[in-house]
Amino acid sequence: MPDTIAVIHGPNLNMLGQREPAIYGHTTLAEIDAALSARAASAGLRLISVQSNHEGVLIDFLQNEGWHAAGVIINPGALTHYGLALRDALAALSAPIIEVHLSNVYRREPFRHTSVVAPIATGQITGLGWRGYLLALEWLIAERENTLAGRGPGK
Ligand code: DQA
Repeated sequence: MPDTIAVIHGPNLNMLGQREPAIYGHTTLAEIDAALSARAASAGLRLISVQSNHEGVLIDFLQNEGWHAAGVIINPGALTHYGLALRDALAALSAPIIEVHLSNVYRREPFRHTSVVAPIATGQITGLGWRGYLLALEWLIAERENTLAGRGPGK
């Protein structure tokens, strides 16, 4: 089976396209997942994705699928700011984790400036809209190719 990239979308992200488009854009979640799947397939990777409004569903997904993943892309939605159980589920994984936000959370309300996920993530992309997900995937693909070529991380 090809290597897998796991994509996790947190609460309210199922409403993308309709939800506050001035902040989150007009692109739907299905369109984001389709773009990610196509890019992953072109790199010989399998992409699996989940969206849930319930933290426990995301944790179950990580426990079942995250351990086999070569990389994780996660937009935790508002769980970013307080989801400690989700954070712990992520911390248990060995794969690189990229935290993505559509909006620039640091330009918004103060409660969005804290991420409980960031300290255990490999990196964070915030404020670049739906393309942030694709940039995260590009990084994971490049890192995997480095590793397969016997080079160290970040080289
Ligand atoms: C978000 C930012 C969060 O603060 C917010 O709760 C979201 C979306 C983003 O993608 O910009 O649901 O993660």
